Amino acid sequence: MSTSAVRCERLTKRYGDLTAVDGLSLTVRRGECFGLLGPNGAGKTTTIEILEGLLTPDEGDVEVLGLRWGRDDDALRQRLGIQLQETRLAEKLSVEETLRLFRSFYRRGRTIDELLGIVELEAKRHSWVGKLSGGQRQRLAIACALAGAPDLLFLDEPTTGLDPQSRRQLWGVLERFRADGGTVVLTTHYMDEAEVLCDRVAVVDCGHVIAQGSPQELIAQFGTPKVVTHHGTLEDVFMALTGRHLRDD
Ligand SMILES: Nc1ncnc2c1ncn2[C@@H]1O[C@H](COP(=O)(O)OP(=O)(O)OP(=O)(O)O)[C@@H](O)[C@H]1O
Ligand SMILES: [Mg+2]
Repeated sequence: MSTSAVRCERLTKRYGDLTAVDGLSLTVRRGECFGLLGPNGAGKTTTIEILEGLLTPDEGDVEVLGLRWGRDDDALRQRLGIQLQETRLAEKLSVEETLRLFRSFYRRGRTIDELLGIVELEAKRHSWVGKLSGGQRQRLAIACALAGAPDLLFLDEPTTGLDPQSRRQLWGVLERFRADGGTVVLTTHYMDEAEVLCDRVAVVDCGHVIAQGSPQELIAQFGTPKVVTHHGTLEDVFMALTGRHLRDD
């Protein structure tokens, strides 16, 4: 059995003249929390959607849980949990109905009560999705991703827009998921979060990996601040590697 949860080599994805992912290679080990970091437009979502089987790469090789898209799709879908960067859930379904729908996609998984408990949405069980706050919807999206008790969870900016309480709550959800042996691949723009959650991170820019390692390794290598006012952080690493200019022209 492959010891890696995800292995991709020389991934490339083009949109016309634009190369969104440009020869990207990375390996995620089973049981770890792996962070994809990078500026807006770096190619994180495109990469993660290729790994999730939602996009087909133009070039490159992908193996997920030792399986391959195009050959083992059904087996893969049963074992993955996916939270998209922008989840659109049906506004006129209740929280409970939404969870029942997602649970029905999987042969095994968690009960509705368990899912409501994990994301602390019991009080909203009968509310329409359209009446939830942004943060509550985000938590519901996480519960949907957990419905099939996945082995591997993909989360694209799971904490963007969450208040500090909900953010910490999600960190706890991920901690318990990993204690049960799960693997997590996430993207985040919060470097403090990546530092706390991730065993290893890859910094992606212009569609490829420019640095990879544990937060501590990267901080030791790139994270010495120019003016020493504090200990190096992953944010220092990110700025040192990706510069100060905005990517959106
Ligand atoms: N369907 C598409 N058609 C054309 N261009 C696209 C498409 N999807 C993504 N792109 C472009 O590919 C590049 C990478 O986008 P992607 O969404 O992967 O970036 P990202 O790293 O997830 O950024 P963010 O941090 O803003 O979410 C961007 O320049 C984007 O405009
Ligand atoms: Mg994105």
